[in-house]
Amino acid sequence: MATRFLSGVQPSGNLHLGNYFGAIRQHIALQEMPDSERFYFIADYHALTTVQNADEMRLNTRNVAVDYLALGLDPAKSTFFRQSDVPEVTELTWLLTTVTGMGLLERAVSYKDKVAKGLKPSVGLFAYPALMAADILIYKSNVVPVGQDQVQHIEMTQDMAGYFNQTFKTAVFVRPEPKLSATPKVPGTDGEKMSKSYGNTIDLQMSEKELKKVIMSIKTDSTPVEQPKNPEACTVFALYSLFATDEEAEALAARYKAGGMGYGEAKKMLLDKIVAHFAPYRQKRAELLQRPEHVDEVLKQGAAKARAIARQTLDEAKRACGLL
Ligand code: ADP
Ligand code: TRP
Repeated sequence: MATRFLSGVQPSGNLHLGNYFGAIRQHIALQEMPDSERFYFIADYHALTTVQNADEMRLNTRNVAVDYLALGLDPAKSTFFRQSDVPEVTELTWLLTTVTGMGLLERAVSYKDKVAKGLKPSVGLFAYPALMAADILIYKSNVVPVGQDQVQHIEMTQDMAGYFNQTFKTAVFVRPEPKLSATPKVPGTDGEKMSKSYGNTIDLQMSEKELKKVIMSIKTDSTPVEQPKNPEACTVFALYSLFATDEEAEALAARYKAGGMGYGEAKKMLLDKIVAHFAPYRQKRAELLQRPEHVDEVLKQGAAKARAIARQTLDEAKRACGLL
């Protein structure tokens, strides 16, 4: 049987380099993998735990859809849809919560982090991993390509699938495995993990002027220009390496170690790389923004395909627990 890949991104703000190098780039690359199929979606039900404004939700959702398509998502190769167009996942979430211990969800690092950062600890935020498990299990996904921060959620999904299958003596759910990209933890401008909620992102949508400003603000140490510098400890170098060929990265590393080069120059090189890399994306994005009906149509067709599968799995699960 073909390997089924599935992943989601929340419409909780603009996409940034962490989302791209941690997740989206591999989502697009997987389109060329033989004997496989892909389901990618905009996780708007999940985003509702943090985005509680209708206009903002609509705008972010449109933006993520346009960005994915502009970055190379091909609707002929990937089923692309909006999570809330498949309401069956919320029903499956309920079934899963009944076999999931409080203790499992209480161990979720991402929940604890979000609460520590001041988010309101709603029931939805707490149950977030159960909804994510439903997303994954309802399509009987085999592999979930994500960044490092989502791995624990996938392990919880494995547990929930096992609890359900055991409790109801069924084999309805398939055990999914996480898949990390080569760069599962991209640093932000302050050197911490790049994340919308840390305000340290470099966004794909930024204009050259905005990019320049944010790149110049990347935190570096105060080694004077003439002194040798350590590329391994430098965020500018880490980000540059994401775009550079091995030879280019080695050349820059050698210049760091030799001394005589300031961080400003490395930042300029990084800016050039980002601008060049995303030039085709910018152009495609501008075109797609003029064709909102096309974007809506892609999502609509994706939803119809996803929903048919979701309905089937949900019915199997309901039958297993005596609800059908
Ligand atoms: P954020 O942390 O900015 O809220 P999301 O939670 O929406 O981003 O993440 C969407 C996808 O991007 C997930 O697969 C996540 O693992 C990945 N991702 C997010 N930030 C990074 C990062 N700094 N490095 C690598 N992958 C990341
Ligand atoms: N929780 C993921 C994130 O914040 C988004 C997501 C929702 C997801 N459902 C999913 C990712 C299912 C992979 C599979 O990035």
